[in-house]
Amino acid sequence: MGSIVPGITAVGGYVPDYILTNQELEKLVDTNDEWITSRTGIKERRILKGEQQGTSVMAVKVLQQLLEKSGTDPKELDAVIVATITPDYFFPTTANLITSEVGAVNAFSFDMGAACSGFIFALETGANYIRSGNYKKVAVIGADKMSSITNYSDRNSCILFGDGAAGVMLEPNAEGLGIYDTILRSDAVGKELIYLKGGGSVNPPTHQSIDAGLHNFYQDGKSVFKYAVTCMADVAAEIMQKNNLTGDDIKFLVPHQANKRIIDATANRMGVGPEKVMLNIQKYGNTTAATIPLCLYDYEDQLKKGDNLVLAAFGGGFTWGSMYLKWAY
Ligand code: UT7
Repeated sequence: MGSIVPGITAVGGYVPDYILTNQELEKLVDTNDEWITSRTGIKERRILKGEQQGTSVMAVKVLQQLLEKSGTDPKELDAVIVATITPDYFFPTTANLITSEVGAVNAFSFDMGAACSGFIFALETGANYIRSGNYKKVAVIGADKMSSITNYSDRNSCILFGDGAAGVMLEPNAEGLGIYDTILRSDAVGKELIYLKGGGSVNPPTHQSIDAGLHNFYQDGKSVFKYAVTCMADVAAEIMQKNNLTGDDIKFLVPHQANKRIIDATANRMGVGPEKVMLNIQKYGNTTAATIPLCLYDYEDQLKKGDNLVLAAFGGGFTWGSMYLKWAY
């Protein structure tokens, strides 16, 4: 770790108003509330409705909150990083759009894609800008409109996802409270198990690609589950070991919200009880890059300066990672 510690000085979050319940899904596909609840922990998720409404609609609300809560003039902002796999467009990036919308005329901005691990990857990237000493205020946002790539006739996947955005402001912390350690991993062994095949340079959009469903999310749930449950628990245990932490030292595990069973396995492996696990999958489902910061947003009033948090994620690619940080306010 360098001498400059990047600390979180504000957290923001936004989910759309429309609530898609398990009961409503029962009318769309052959499923039921009992199956969804017992297999995933999800009860409802939020959906961004309306024409021409993209991920930036949610992300810009988060950026506005971050500026306000951290007392930052938009002109002071150095950088904006948006983790997303559902950008408004391939380009301009979603980060470019929201940075201009808030009048952050001196900031550079870009999107990052690491699927469900996107927020941790982006947070480590933002942290390194702060550690460099060249930048003082970096906003890191995870935002996904998963409903834009979900096939609502596929019961294997449509029950899982929701839309949302959340993020944090990073600044140098004089008290040494902030991001201490990060482990990031990726392995394309998952490329046939979880993917969006269409729309990129291999399968550009055609009538055939649309008919073949290539523009919808696909996963082999059972296979992904096996990797997720092992990799997320391993990487969470590894960062604890590396930093000599026991379950008693941890205030909260902040896990990616894909499946409550994966979260429970990670908590067990870390030796932390359910009271120390941030959980909101029941309300929002899997919002991909937004799950971890949405947890921080929901639990913000339970956090105190100096609290030890471990973030952990697993997602498409595969990508996975963990982060150890001390809450800064
Ligand atoms: O976030 C990024 C990474 N992604 C993940 O971490 C997700 C990992 N995977 C999972 O969370 C789980 O695999 C799922 C929640 C997606 C599925 O749960 P599962 O316990 O692995 O179920 P399954 O896919 O093995 O399916 C079991 C049964 C099947 O029926 P048969 O073949 O046993 O007769 C499915 O057809 O459940 C059936 N099924 C459903 N039944 C009711 C699948 N989806 C549904 C459904 N409602 N929505």
